[in-house]
Amino acid sequence: MDKIINWGILGLGGIAEKFAQALATVPNAKLYAVGSRSAEKAKKFAKKYNAQNSYGSYEELAAAPSVDVIYVATPHILHCENTLMCIKNGKAVLCEKPFAMNSKEVLQMVSLAKEKNIFLMEALWTRFLPTITKTLELIASGVIGDIIQVKSDFGVKAPYDPDKRLFNKELGGGSLLDIGIYPVFIALLLLGEPDKISAEAKIGKTGVDESFSAVLKYKNGELATIFSTFLASTPVETDIYGTKGYIRINRMWHIPTYLTLVMNDGHSEDIKFKYKSNGYDYEAEEVTNCLLNGQKESSIMTLDFSIKLIGLLDNLRKVCNIKYSMD
Ligand SMILES: NC(=O)c1ccc[n+]([C@@H]2O[C@H](COP(=O)([O-])OP(=O)(O)OC[C@H]3O[C@@H](n4cnc5c(N)ncnc54)[C@H](OP(=O)(O)O)[C@@H]3O)[C@@H](O)[C@H]2O)c1
Repeated sequence: MDKIINWGILGLGGIAEKFAQALATVPNAKLYAVGSRSAEKAKKFAKKYNAQNSYGSYEELAAAPSVDVIYVATPHILHCENTLMCIKNGKAVLCEKPFAMNSKEVLQMVSLAKEKNIFLMEALWTRFLPTITKTLELIASGVIGDIIQVKSDFGVKAPYDPDKRLFNKELGGGSLLDIGIYPVFIALLLLGEPDKISAEAKIGKTGVDESFSAVLKYKNGELATIFSTFLASTPVETDIYGTKGYIRINRMWHIPTYLTLVMNDGHSEDIKFKYKSNGYDYEAEEVTNCLLNGQKESSIMTLDFSIKLIGLLDNLRKVCNIKYSMD
């Protein structure tokens, strides 16, 4: 029988549930153990998703034998601490986005993973969706010509709760790091690191950026216009405008969706995909395969890319004075 990769999940909130559902569809992968601050919650989660073991602390999960890889699904402020603990215990890590709060933390995580020769990846799941793979193929084929502008937004009208993750500064709240990271990610993926950035943010009562907007300018004059907000529901689309036509990654572009290719002569075509689960299976499959092949890093979502991404987020924050205690 093929080797099975035993997964652990650390922090059992909303995204952990979605990831556990998707993991069940991934070949050669099994949810083996879960860890929560509450033993009771861990037990319930383990039962719901058929995990063999449950632990009432993150430390116990990190130390658990037979766990190959741990998915870190806690609030941003804990990503660095939790990841370092898992790596120190010899566990490979898939850590939720943003990888950590700033470059300083990400560099610490990457350097420990390299020193211990342990696999590490940021859970930027969108990178693995067929929409993104196909977009890159279409651009490389030259069908839309040279990229002139990218426009990407992510706005959701989030219920205001100063104590919960999104608006709570102590938990790393704010729209840029939570959802604005997706438009920043697509701009970085398609156009690289910008030469010049301008950005503005609306800081709310709890001290977090409730709305954020930026224009990024690149070497050859390409522009990216990106924004995020918790105050309004926006289209959540990405458009890539080229000299011959454009690609739209349709509504809720960061999750499984479809593409529309529109040529300058008005001809348009929808490009659809078949999905077997909620989309988190693609990143889980990538990590599982990397581990089966003995890789210490994904060649698709590289550590270098994650370092550039957090560096860009740091710079954008600096321009509009978004600060956290760990900066
Ligand atoms: N990839 C995606 O599509 C996606 C979507 C949503 C979120 N995320 C990322 O995933 C991370 C978690 O988001 P989420 O929406 O799952 O959050 P959530 O529902 O609030 O869950 C976070 C979990 O972290 C643990 N935790 C530890 N210390 C905590 C504290 N002081 N306050 C609150 N929770 C604490 C809790 O698990 P225990 O009680 O079990 O210890 C909690 O259930 C975030 O970094 C976010 O950016 C990614």
